[in-house]
Amino acid sequence: MMSQGRGTDQSNHLSRLEMQKLRTMIEGFDEISHGGLPLGRTTLVSGTSGTGKTLLAIQFLYNGITHFDQPGILVTFEETPVDIIRNASSLGWDLQRFIDEGKFFILDASPDPEGQDVAGDFDLSALIERIQYAIRKYKAQRVSIDSVTSVFQQYNAALIVRREIFRLVARLKQIGMTTILTAERLDEYGAVARFGVEEFVSDNVVIVRNVLEESAVDEPLKFSNLAVQLT
Ligand SMILES: Nc1ncnc2c1ncn2[C@@H]1O[C@H](COP(=O)(O)OP(=O)(O)O)[C@@H](O)[C@H]1O
Ligand SMILES: [Mg+2]
Repeated sequence: MMSQGRGTDQSNHLSRLEMQKLRTMIEGFDEISHGGLPLGRTTLVSGTSGTGKTLLAIQFLYNGITHFDQPGILVTFEETPVDIIRNASSLGWDLQRFIDEGKFFILDASPDPEGQDVAGDFDLSALIERIQYAIRKYKAQRVSIDSVTSVFQQYNAALIVRREIFRLVARLKQIGMTTILTAERLDEYGAVARFGVEEFVSDNVVIVRNVLEESAVDEPLKFSNLAVQLT
């Protein structure tokens, strides 16, 4: 079983090796990251498009339910809940069942097809309250936010978006959530992510890349996602 947290303030004073971790049960990930994600913290998962960030964010929650009976909340700024459930089911994951059982909740913050919000009006307060309400209602311990980049793309006022994301991350830490925040990078050799979002999470950054595996000549190319933990 996973270890339970005793408060994040205390863990600030412990060395990295002693920092409490929450196991993801994602193949290979817990080994690379020395036990999983930092308990009660936000980890930034950054990668170029198509590196499996959304899948990782969902799998973190899915495994929490199936392995530890820990409910999870997915906040989606990009894909609609219908698309998420459909994509997951193509991998054999029955998210709908967990939604029906009250163990998985998708908070839909995907773009309104009717149009965009006016930049100056952007305020995440209502969303932060909705997230906190859902966390309490579902007794969630794991949260995934996918993706922070699309928040910046939906609302043009980058300074305001930054302030609001800072507030969201601070609130999630305050209530002890172990969180994945995904972000998109433009290329493998550039910045960790666009809009300087790595500053939101201080030291917990995971870069995902597509790695080409050897495959036979007449087979389709195989990719696997390699996770590298920095700092
Ligand atoms: N480890 C994996 N095994 C199998 N398919 C994967 C894996 N990671 C990603 N995929 C598939 O690759 C595609 C892109 O993944 P996605 O999570 O949407 O990437 P991103 O959010 O980084 O753009 C999806 O169709 C997803 O199902
Ligand atoms: Mg994605």
